[in-house]
Amino acid sequence: MGRGMDWLVILILLLILLSLLLLLLLLLLILLLILCRTNMGKIRIESKIKIKSKIKIKIKSKSKIKSEMKIEIKIMGDAALSKQEPILKISNIEVRYHEVILALKGVSMEVPDGGIVAILGANGAGKSTTLKAVSGLLKHEDGEVTDGSIEFMGERIDRMVAEKIAKMGIIQVIEGRRVFEHLTVEQNLKVGAHLRKNRKSVREGMEMVYHYFPRLREKRNETAGLISGGEQQMTVVGRALMADPKLILLDEPSMGLAPLLIHEIFNIITRLNKEKKISILLVEQNAKLALNVAPYAYVMENGRIVMDDTADKLRNNPDIKDFYLGLSDVGGRKSFRDVKHYKRRKRWLT
Ligand SMILES: Nc1ncnc2c1ncn2[C@@H]1O[C@H](COP(=O)(O)OP(=O)(O)OP(=O)(O)O)[C@@H](O)[C@H]1O
Ligand SMILES: [Mg+2]
Repeated sequence: MGRGMDWLVILILLLILLSLLLLLLLLLLILLLILCRTNMGKIRIESKIKIKSKIKIKIKSKSKIKSEMKIEIKIMGDAALSKQEPILKISNIEVRYHEVILALKGVSMEVPDGGIVAILGANGAGKSTTLKAVSGLLKHEDGEVTDGSIEFMGERIDRMVAEKIAKMGIIQVIEGRRVFEHLTVEQNLKVGAHLRKNRKSVREGMEMVYHYFPRLREKRNETAGLISGGEQQMTVVGRALMADPKLILLDEPSMGLAPLLIHEIFNIITRLNKEKKISILLVEQNAKLALNVAPYAYVMENGRIVMDDTADKLRNNPDIKDFYLGLSDVGGRKSFRDVKHYKRRKRWLT
């Protein structure tokens, strides 16, 4: 016991000695810096350390002759410096219906965590098929991802069943605002709550939906089949929210709605993204609307992506203006390829 204590004391003394040595080294380093300063008048040390978690720490040290020292530590978000890990990553997927109908070819896209990304494209381009490939709903239509991969939060989901994908946090709002017509608005919302664990959580979800969609609170006891189209759209988005999603796949929410209602719904969608940090993959034929809410968009045609860029660039692209923004001959619905032959990005080869 006594000997053990002796060793402990020796160990502590050694540690103290080691710390003193380190301190001495540090002092020497500072002395060296001061010497350098007097020699060169002005020095500037800048070092960049990249830590594995992809947060960059930038340490700047400036010293001037009048012995003033400024240390500036900048911790910048990963997004500002390097590409953030996307919440959804679709890589070179090919989709077939009934084993023979090739609906998607080499489609790749990404949704950043907490971001909104839009998919634009005319009828039959493959927008809904892309969403269904992600949510797993494709399988209900005898469709299948026959090549490529889909990852959600780093996990492969392209072979998973829809229910498991939903449990992971991906909820699709399918096109055509399909409410359960004979149920009330509130009952429709409750249908979306089956992934919630207990009554308290269901109540909280309901309150959250009513907070974002006050109109639904007013209509809570009305039959969903009898409310307006806009209210039905709100109901299906609300139903998706009840599942507490991380990523919502929204298929043409503006379809057939009056401009004022569209405005209201899109405002709420933007708020949900900002305040609840829900990532959104939005399919829209109304490009103007989509580019207003999504900072990045993909343009699809004939089952392929023909273009992708920031909303600002797409908005100013003459061909997008021509074909999608209704600034000229849109009525003719000419093919995007007629507007300009884009060099296809052969992602499926890379
Ligand atoms: N269940 C299905 N079985 C067979 N083919 C299908 C099925 N669903 C879609 N397709 C085909 O896949 C292609 C892409 O259709 P999709 O519904 O994804 O297009 P979209 O871009 O969503 O069009 P829209 O704007 O009309 O909704 C089309 O050629 C379509 O005919
Ligand atoms: Mg569609």
